[in-house]
Amino acid sequence: MSTPTFSPGLAGVTAGVTAISEVDADRNKLTYRGYDVHDLVEHTKFDEVAHLMLLGKLPTKAELDAFIARTAAQREVSPAVYELFRKFPADANCMDVLRAGVAIEALFDPDAHKDTPEAHLQKSLRLYAKIPTLVVNGYRILKGMEPVKPSPTLPHSENFWHMLAGGAPNEFFVTTVDATQILYAEHGFNASTFASRVTVSTLSDIYSGTVSAIGTLKGNLHGGANEAAMEMLLEIGEATKADAYIRDALAKKKKIMGFGHREYKHGDERAKIVKTFVVELSKRLNEPKWLEISNIVEGVMLKEKNLYPNLDFPVASSYYMMKLPVELYTPIFVMSRITGWCAHMMEQLANNRIIRPHNEYNGPKGLTVPPISARK
Ligand SMILES: CC(C)(COP(=O)(O)OP(=O)(O)OC[C@H]1O[C@@H](n2cnc3c(N)ncnc32)[C@H](O)[C@@H]1OP(=O)(O)O)[C@@H](O)C(=O)NCCC(=O)NCCS
Repeated sequence: MSTPTFSPGLAGVTAGVTAISEVDADRNKLTYRGYDVHDLVEHTKFDEVAHLMLLGKLPTKAELDAFIARTAAQREVSPAVYELFRKFPADANCMDVLRAGVAIEALFDPDAHKDTPEAHLQKSLRLYAKIPTLVVNGYRILKGMEPVKPSPTLPHSENFWHMLAGGAPNEFFVTTVDATQILYAEHGFNASTFASRVTVSTLSDIYSGTVSAIGTLKGNLHGGANEAAMEMLLEIGEATKADAYIRDALAKKKKIMGFGHREYKHGDERAKIVKTFVVELSKRLNEPKWLEISNIVEGVMLKEKNLYPNLDFPVASSYYMMKLPVELYTPIFVMSRITGWCAHMMEQLANNRIIRPHNEYNGPKGLTVPPISARK
């Protein structure tokens, strides 16, 4: 067997084939099953994209209505989940709470022991339906509030607002969240999606793959960057401090959260789309501060490092202006990416070979075991 080339972080390595999305970094283009994300943001709502991910096609009006009815009816979670959430420490991380919630829900899934393609789809639809409930009610319980009931009829983003904020939703806020959900849905063999594919490639199940993926997304180099970016913007605090803050951080070799990307080296189109929402929110709310700070940070990063913002950077300030709790930014990412994860896990299972790469060994060789009394 010839020795494959080693690439740290698997950079540039083709680790599989997919028909779910294409990242064309040279042309700054991202497509989901052939549709450009610009087109999807402009002409669809998130349930349509979820249908595209999970069922393979954009829905007709009748298919969309049936999809929303089918998933909305399954939004409630098991009472056992809430009983356990109440025992969690008040300072628990919301991604850890969500990961636990998904693990518990797995035990109550009526298809838990079935591994047919239909059962994989049913589990995926249930995860899509229940994750927003776990996100909002996990947060509420940590904050000492009672869980609220999900809507059995509303579309995805409207239901999220209904649960999180109650009352009549601000339509532009719902549109903004919906656009970010579309842009967060899928991104090829990113770390969390790859983790989910590795997990199910052993013939483990969709819930286990989701738990792996949530744990992987949590890290600051991946989905955790949206919360970390907001924490940085809050620390900067005002536009006059932004330039010096970033230069100082770069001088100390710190990574600036929400910048850079493994695939995109000339900018992330998704970030440009969300920036238009940040500009609009700044105007509508008469709150220019976050946009001003962001512009300065972006300018310094481009000049000093030739790095562009990724999706997580504008998402952070858009969520902040809409008063979404910072600790929910990464769980909100999960509400969307679950569709990409499940699409990938189903694709992996439909044509499976266990994912088990080769590694080089660089440790000691040829040692013999000394008697325990002689060991140091
Ligand atoms: C996304 C990310 C993990 C990609 O990692 P990668 O492909 O391995 O890129 P590298 O770490 O090799 O970066 C190449 C160079 O740019 C620098 N760099 C990359 N991202 C940087 C950032 N956000 N801030 C400062 N420097 C950065 C690296 O330090 C490295 O510099 P060097 O060659 O002098 O050592 C990385 O850009 C990063 O950590 N970004 C911040 C976290 C983030 O926003 N994650 C969300 C991704 S969507």
